[in-house]
Amino acid sequence: MSRKAMCAVPPMGWNSWNSFTEKINEDLIRETVDAMKKQGLQKAGYEYVVIDDCWSMKERDKDGNLVPDPEKFPHGMKAVADYVHENGFKFGMYSCCGTRTCANYPGSFEHEYEDAKQFAAWGVDYLKYDNCFKPQHLDDRNLYRRMGLALANSGRDIVFSACQWGTESVHEWISSSGAHLFRSTIDINDSWNSIKDIALSQMDKTAYSSAYCHNDMDMLVVGMYGKGGDEYISAGGCTDEEYQTHFALWAMMNSPLMIGCDVRNMTEQTKKILLNKDLIAINQDIECRAPFQVQCTSNSPDTYVLVKFLSNGDIAIGMFNFGDTPTLAAVDFWDLGLPTSAGKCLEIYDCIEHENIGKKSEMLTATVAAHGSKVYRCKMVEKE
Ligand code: GLA
Repeated sequence: MSRKAMCAVPPMGWNSWNSFTEKINEDLIRETVDAMKKQGLQKAGYEYVVIDDCWSMKERDKDGNLVPDPEKFPHGMKAVADYVHENGFKFGMYSCCGTRTCANYPGSFEHEYEDAKQFAAWGVDYLKYDNCFKPQHLDDRNLYRRMGLALANSGRDIVFSACQWGTESVHEWISSSGAHLFRSTIDINDSWNSIKDIALSQMDKTAYSSAYCHNDMDMLVVGMYGKGGDEYISAGGCTDEEYQTHFALWAMMNSPLMIGCDVRNMTEQTKKILLNKDLIAINQDIECRAPFQVQCTSNSPDTYVLVKFLSNGDIAIGMFNFGDTPTLAAVDFWDLGLPTSAGKCLEIYDCIEHENIGKKSEMLTATVAAHGSKVYRCKMVEKE
């Protein structure tokens, strides 16, 4: 069988963990699928519906098979996969490279090939593969290679989502394991500090993310408002401004966009953030160019400016204020590779307000709210 090249651009979808942890079942998945259609998330590009940890029985059956918990999934996993597929989505599941999953269900160590076959038989299109309960004598390279190879030979096109947490310089080798995305950080929680820490920890690693193997900065907490599946995840919640910044960062930094809130109950503001087609277009740009950082000497130390070249020649500019007071941020076009001698200027479109703000030469400045962001899509035009 010939395999498709998968995940040219970062995957988009929904994952059960952030809001539901072990409180998952087939009704939740069905209702989530329905809500994603109804609320326009599917149309906006969110494609994968992923069941995280806690879906199976606590032990394998006597033949060594993983068994879906019959109380949570009374019709089995194939039925869930069928519903997901009938509605035009792709189906994701979860396992772990160790002997147990992080929530202490059976892991896939020494069962990699049979589990991959089982996932393929159920119609799984995406496997998140965690990093708990690892045998001491093997390093992660070997453990992730095992499942990478098992999935690639499972007879089905299955995206390999390596949830490795950013240890062992994972960004340097994970692509060779067959992974299409790799978690590069500890678990996110629903707080501004978590968003900020994750984003800052990956600023110097953006160049390691590329088409077909993306740096996964973890599921989004947008729209959770402190209602996480457990105490660690809940963490107090964020403001809408902070959720907007979170989404803009993940979009600009080429992270997968996996929604973590309860999509059955989204506020208008949450929908506005998650359905932002201009930010999604930047994230999903086919060339997946790594963003680079620029800094004007006049900017505050809490200001981060990221620039991403897009496949049609446009330039995306994101200004992020990690500070606690509003700030004036500036970008000098010289730093983009656009000197005055070029005789060009940039026509600027605001991707959060969705409006044109006119032409600028040499410099772009904006006031950025505390914990706020601005993202612009800029088109090069002749100077008049
Ligand atoms: C780890 C992962 C999380 C989630 C849980 C499930 O902590 O990093 O994303 O999958 O395990 O137990």
